[in-house]
Amino acid sequence: MNTAAYDAYIGVDISDVAIEKAIRRTTENHRTDKNHYFQGDILSCVPKGLYDVILFGDSIYYFRSQRVAETLTRYSKYLKQDGVLIVRSWVTHHRSRAIVRNIERDFDVVEKHLYHESQIVVIVLQPPAGRRAALVEGAHP
Ligand SMILES: C[S@@+](CC[C@H](N)C(=O)[O-])C[C@H]1O[C@@H](n2cnc3c(N)ncnc32)[C@H](O)[C@@H]1O
Repeated sequence: MNTAAYDAYIGVDISDVAIEKAIRRTTENHRTDKNHYFQGDILSCVPKGLYDVILFGDSIYYFRSQRVAETLTRYSKYLKQDGVLIVRSWVTHHRSRAIVRNIERDFDVVEKHLYHESQIVVIVLQPPAGRRAALVEGAHP
């Protein structure tokens, strides 16, 4: 991503090794002023503040289907008013396809793109309008 396209990025991963790798890459790319990383479990992390974008990069298929829905709903409370969730996932297996179908049922799909001979999906999501309205009315955490 063009460095001018964003102000700040916070990356979370449960693996120390993944975090170390991301920090190394960020240093090489001279982005240490914008990119910050924390070791943590997506299922229990509590974001600080509200975000324009919350991205789940190839991570949702590590969780049980039921946890995916709960997790995306929980994180959607940390979006700014017009903020979006982005889910990137391989859809080569029945399980990940079923997870993506459930997400599409539970959220408004703003954009959807397929890559790599349709083996990877990137979906841009917003909570359904009713839930968005509730957040605007002050239900933010
Ligand atoms: C396929 S890699 C994707 C890495 C990176 N997010 C990306 O988009 O390039 C999947 C990552 O999910 C992380 N992961 C799995 N379960 C997790 C959890 N409960 N909380 C945080 N990260 C988790 C793994 O440690 C691994 O680094």
